Amino acid sequence: MSVPFFDIHYRLDPEDRAEILERWGNVLDHGGFIGGPEIGELEEKLSSAFNLGEVVACSNGSDALVLALKAVGVRPGDEVVVPAFTFFATAGAIARIGAIPVFADVEMSSYLMSTESAVSKVTDKTSAIMTVHLFGRQAPVAPLAESVLAATGRAIPILEDAAQSIGSVGAEGDCGALGIASGFSCFPTKNLGAAGDAGFSATRDPDIAERMRSLRNHGGENYIHKEVGFNFRMDPLQAAFLLHQLPKLAVFQALRIEAASHYRKLVLEAGLMDWVICPEDAEGHIFHQYVIQSENRDALKLHLESLGVGSAIYYPVPLHLQPCFSELGGRAGDLPGCEALAERVLALPIHPGVTPEQREEVVSGIASFYS
Ligand SMILES: Cc1ncc(COP(=O)(O)O)c(C=O)c1O
Repeated sequence: MSVPFFDIHYRLDPEDRAEILERWGNVLDHGGFIGGPEIGELEEKLSSAFNLGEVVACSNGSDALVLALKAVGVRPGDEVVVPAFTFFATAGAIARIGAIPVFADVEMSSYLMSTESAVSKVTDKTSAIMTVHLFGRQAPVAPLAESVLAATGRAIPILEDAAQSIGSVGAEGDCGALGIASGFSCFPTKNLGAAGDAGFSATRDPDIAERMRSLRNHGGENYIHKEVGFNFRMDPLQAAFLLHQLPKLAVFQALRIEAASHYRKLVLEAGLMDWVICPEDAEGHIFHQYVIQSENRDALKLHLESLGVGSAIYYPVPLHLQPCFSELGGRAGDLPGCEALAERVLALPIHPGVTPEQREEVVSGIASFYS
């Protein structure tokens, strides 16, 4: 039995297809191809579904982070502390506005930014910290802010990269509603995925929201530009698709959580705990990815591939060692947690279409590798 790492069709059965086509037909009928009514409706529904305050729909999750950073006042030359073990766009967004990503280490058990490391990276030039709720797990926000305040005497704003954690309600509340502003991705493989690129920013501060809306549309209106913004508008066809998907999200999240506990059980039953570390089960974890750790990761991945089982490496090169950031002076050995994880992590198929039998296949593939 082959087990693809991801298959988009789990959320596109014939009934879905008919409903989506009807929504897309409505867009063709009203003709509001830029800023049509689906955008506002989606923003309202996302806000109330996830307690997000104001939501600003935009082109993708990377741009959502740019909007958030710029709207909270991060300026060229400012430093922004960010974990080095995350998707590139988290730091890319900082660099895109001329600010400087300053990389912090992560904890190997949670994959989340280490508060101690983040605090140690704060300098007089730090104007914000960007934390990441990686793989669907909530990263600490209030405890981080308190530690920074205690260590430096400064209340540094914390932004959240919630691209992978939509709908996760952890110990502190809703991901994306905890800091000054946040960015979410609706890339098709995300827990709430569009039929192409889409994303949104969120904030509880009306002034920041207003600036995000303005920046999304070239920083002005009626041909008067207060500042240089972007074209970061969301396509109403994507908004229509997301309006169809949103009510289904809770079921899909529950399926991911069930799949995660099934994987853990299977790994335990197969006696693989000496070889494989399963992700911790934290409050509100919605398992955007199910990322295990293994000493022989590359060989294990190849073995699974030979059995028709898909897996993926998120992320193989930590950001402080990326060629585009070499001028920042990052060296191997600087961030041991990120570097060790880059060699050990392997994501197993977790999307809601993976059946229990397929999960058994995945774990028996792992067992056959170690036997
Ligand atoms: C942690 C993280 N940040 C940012 C992004 C960027 O989102 P997008 O691909 O929608 O631009 C992603 C998406 O892959 C992500 O996983």
